Amino acid sequence: LGSDWLSRIDAAADLAALEAERVAALGKQGAITGLLKTLGGMSPEERQTAGPRIHALRESVTDAIAAKKAAFEAAELERKLATETLDMTLPVLSAPQGSVHPVSQVMDELAEIFADLGFAVATGPEIEDDWHNFTALNIPESHPARAMHDTFYFPGESEGKRMLLRTHTSPVQIRTMTSQEPPIRIIAPGRTYRSDSDATHTPMFHQVEGLVIDRGIHMGHLKWTLETFLKAFFERDDIVLRLRPSYFPFTEPSAEVDVGYSVEKGRRVIGGSEGWMEVLGSGMVHPKVIAACGLDPDEWQGFAFGCGIDRLAMLKYGMDDLRAFFDGDLRWLRHYGFAS
Ligand code: PHE
Repeated sequence: LGSDWLSRIDAAADLAALEAERVAALGKQGAITGLLKTLGGMSPEERQTAGPRIHALRESVTDAIAAKKAAFEAAELERKLATETLDMTLPVLSAPQGSVHPVSQVMDELAEIFADLGFAVATGPEIEDDWHNFTALNIPESHPARAMHDTFYFPGESEGKRMLLRTHTSPVQIRTMTSQEPPIRIIAPGRTYRSDSDATHTPMFHQVEGLVIDRGIHMGHLKWTLETFLKAFFERDDIVLRLRPSYFPFTEPSAEVDVGYSVEKGRRVIGGSEGWMEVLGSGMVHPKVIAACGLDPDEWQGFAFGCGIDRLAMLKYGMDDLRAFFDGDLRWLRHYGFAS
């Protein structure tokens, strides 16, 4: 009986025939299933001899079906491998390919450099209220700095709730300090807006803010951080910084930071100290700003800086026209290697 089943399984021509044999032997109404059912009606003595034989039969048939099935599948794979070929000589279909804009590229570089220094990336809304953009940063309504910012205001609304396009990324300082516990180490890259347009100004531009709040922070930490950042960004060791006393309502003391440049082949390149270029504003976060965010300025100190990203990109990649950044002209991008 057993060899009968095994030869029928061996003779199955394909997977469908094999399945038919499986159903005939082991299915609900199958012959071997039927044999197993007869065990119940046997005397104990009969069952003792018949039982092991029937179970052995079921096992050998089950194994034979599995082996045959594996053989069919292996043969099918062989057939596919033999017939399905790739023609490597066919021409490639060319699809339009996007590329990274220099501003995005610089933002990625900044995030990477500052991540190594333990800074997280923070964001805030481009449509801000005047409290976050000005008041909390120690720039009250009547402050001349408000006029200096050439702000795009939205119509309506009262003081403190007047909506505007943020004029700098500094409101992200406020949003971070009011939502996170110190110690804080963040950078906040993003779009900023001022009603200003000429060869070196566009109404929309990009800044990156930096903010550190911790215990015992001083100007030395600020200078080291900026030096480390600029060396990594411009990939040069001969970066020289010059901190000039300055004024921002939200930092005290404040410093404008110049980076040294040298002239190579008639071009200004960052590094050395043949001349100075202003690259960012910075300072120690004003105690009033820390207090406005609900923190105790006697316990927490920090530094902040703000830097034009478009400017950084121009200096690093030797671009000389700011407005071209926002024209979307592929020829310009290609020229600087940002599109293919
Ligand atoms: N927000 C300032 C600007 O836009 C830059 C700045 C940021 C200065 C942080 C000091 C500290 O000019």
